[in-house]
Amino acid sequence: MKLDFFIKKVKTHSNMNFSLNQINKEAERLFDNLRKVGWSEPDCELIAPLTMEINQLKKEKDVIILAHSYITPDIIYGVADFIGDSYGLSKKVIEAKEKTILFCSVHFMAETAKIMNPKKTVLIPSAASCSLAESITPEDVRKLRKKYPEAGVICYVNTSAAVKAECDACCTSGNALKIVEGMSQKEILFLPDELMAKNLQPLTKKKIIKWTGRCIVHEEFSPKTVDSVRRDYPEAKILAHLECMPSVVEKVDMTGSTEGMIQYLKKSPAKQFMLATECGLSDRMKVEYPEKQIIGSCALCPYMKQIMLKDVLQALKEPRKDQIIELPKEVVKKAQKTLNRMVKIAEKQIFKK
Ligand code: 13P
Ligand code: SF4
Repeated sequence: MKLDFFIKKVKTHSNMNFSLNQINKEAERLFDNLRKVGWSEPDCELIAPLTMEINQLKKEKDVIILAHSYITPDIIYGVADFIGDSYGLSKKVIEAKEKTILFCSVHFMAETAKIMNPKKTVLIPSAASCSLAESITPEDVRKLRKKYPEAGVICYVNTSAAVKAECDACCTSGNALKIVEGMSQKEILFLPDELMAKNLQPLTKKKIIKWTGRCIVHEEFSPKTVDSVRRDYPEAKILAHLECMPSVVEKVDMTGSTEGMIQYLKKSPAKQFMLATECGLSDRMKVEYPEKQIIGSCALCPYMKQIMLKDVLQALKEPRKDQIIELPKEVVKKAQKTLNRMVKIAEKQIFKK
């Protein structure tokens, strides 16, 4: 009954005719991963025609789909070619051979892809923002530069292209300390994440000047939550993203980027983990490391979760203007310098012009 229903549905959404056999095979492939995060077989049957059509179209149109770890698991395990954190995704953009990059993430990450590889067409299915990127404007940076003329200006990758264009170097959560230390100035304007700046201050002798931006997702974790997990699961390792509050960071076993947390979990002999971060990472770990138990609560990013499979299909078929990343040449040129500086300090590598 369910198959009949969704085949009818597919016929209204798709020009492609898949056989029942093809649909069953795809549903099995999806179920193999998605069952680990609570999806049922009928759920997978329902999305199978969509993932098949997307996968077929991306080959025909020479598109690579990149997805941040916080994106929903149907996209991650159904259609993404590469999953990563903001730094891993940026590096993948430089290597991409395909004509078009379809970025499943928030808007600033797709902008970053365009800056790093401007000749590519970069598509974003839903132009979702981010509370950090929203917290600061290019004008704010220009004013801060006047106020602190001696300071080196670092912007976290969670900023708009126009803000990046006003800064000296960019950083991600995976390399923030390295970039702070790699700058020649003793004073650093660290923009816009106030909590990350506070977390970095005890790790460096440089003076860090903060802005007021916050991640609305990571600031939700409290020291109380950490204490209760410690009490209930004394053997568990607790990992937190660098965007969490310092009062959380000081209580956990490891702090870092999304990828840093994955690497820690992978190598750790511990069996139980609490991940003080977005739920997408917990889902990925449940699928990819089923032998490890993920405990405690996670938080949902309302921006990352805006993208749905149907949006991916629509953007692939016929992207709207707002789904195609376009940036002024001058902004690209200046922001490239900022990003190039990060990569030079972090990896001594350069971008394609
Ligand atoms: P990562 O650098 O860990 O991918 O972080 C990006 C982000 O938006 C975290 O909230
Ligand atoms: Fe922005 Fe926070 Fe969402 Fe990351 S999790 S995209 S920092 S709002």
